[in-house]
Formats: sequence, C-alpha cells, structure tokens
Amino acid sequence: MAIPYKASSPLFLCLILSCGDSLVNCSEFEVGGHDGWVVPKPKDDDQMYNQWASQNRFKVNDTLLFKYERDSVMVVTEEEYEKCKASRPLFFSNNGDTVFKFDRPGLFYFISGVSGHCDRGQRMIIKVLDVEPAAPPPQSANEDAQKPPHKKNGVAEMIPMSIITTSTLFVLSTFVLQLYA
Ligand SMILES: *[C@@H]1O[C@H](CO)[C@@H](O)[C@H](O)[C@H]1NC(C)=O
Repeated sequence: MAIPYKASSPLFLCLILSCGDSLVNCSEFEVGGHDGWVVPKPKDDDQMYNQWASQNRFKVNDTLLFKYERDSVMVVTEEEYEKCKASRPLFFSNNGDTVFKFDRPGLFYFISGVSGHCDRGQRMIIKVLDVEPAAPPPQSANEDAQKPPHKKNGVAEMIPMSIITTSTLFVLSTFVLQLYA
C-alpha cells in the first residue's frame, strides 16, 4: 500500500495501520499527551481525560490507543468507575500498547488498574455515538427526495435540448442542402 507523503505524524500512521480495509470509516485516537496514559500530574486537571474525551467524537469501530509503562487499562461498569475498583473488569490489558476498539455505541468506562491511579484521575468516560446506523436513512431519504425532481429536470432538460439539437441539425442540413442545390 502506498503511504501518502503526509503520513508523517504517528497518529496518521496509526490510522493507516490499524484501520486497514475500512480506512475511511474509522479513526484511531491516542489517549493522553506525550506521556500517554498516565496519572494526571498535580498541575493537570484531574478530569483531563474526560476533557479530552468530550472534545472528540467517537464512533463504532474507532479505536483508542493507550501507551504506558507499568500500568494497565481496564474497561469497567459505571459503578466500578465511580468506585475506582473492579475485581472482574470487562476488559483488561497491561501490555503497554493497548488498542481498544469500540464494538457498540454507548458509554465506555476506562480506569487504570493500578491501585490509586484511578483515584488520582487516571480514568475516562467515552461516549460512542450511534451515527453509523443513523446516517444512511437521512441520506437515502434525501436521495429519494431529490431523485424524482432530478429525473424530472433531466427529462425536462433533455427534451428541449434534443429539440434544439434536432432543429439545429435540421436548419444546418437544410442550409447545407440549399448550398448544394
Ligand atoms: C465495524 O466493523 C465491522 C467488521 O469490520 C463491520 O462489519 C461493521 O459494519 C462496522 N461497523 C460500523 C458501524 O462501521
């Protein structure tokens, strides 16, 4: 696969690598800044991950990339998120390079699995939008609504055009015939 010349940013490369066939339909978001998935620093807002999440739009099949060292990523229930504790998380990864794919719309609760980290703000709620199933109906409805007038216009335009063309040809051929007559 040819990589466009703009593919200089790591995020863009991630998009290419992870989204494969459905390149146009999904995005990969890297969580956190340069430090990745870490405990917010004292100077940072302890809601910094939620701040970040609220500034992005996530949809089904988008992925999150978590980069970290000596930490982990867990997806938990809302209750566990509030308590910052989960004995049996819905998802767990501690390989330092976690890719999580949203397989449904709705809310996802992420916390660090390291004791104390979630309490200090290493947690995040992501809302995955239900846009994919919702988008096609209005589009096709628009198309359906637009097609008949377009077709009518097309036919309506074609008739005068063909008349013009035919009559122009007729006039031309008459003119040519008269020349040779
Ligand atoms: C997500 O990906 C799966 C498998 O690649 C595909 O079947 C499905 O249609 C995708 N869903 C959306 C909403 O793009």
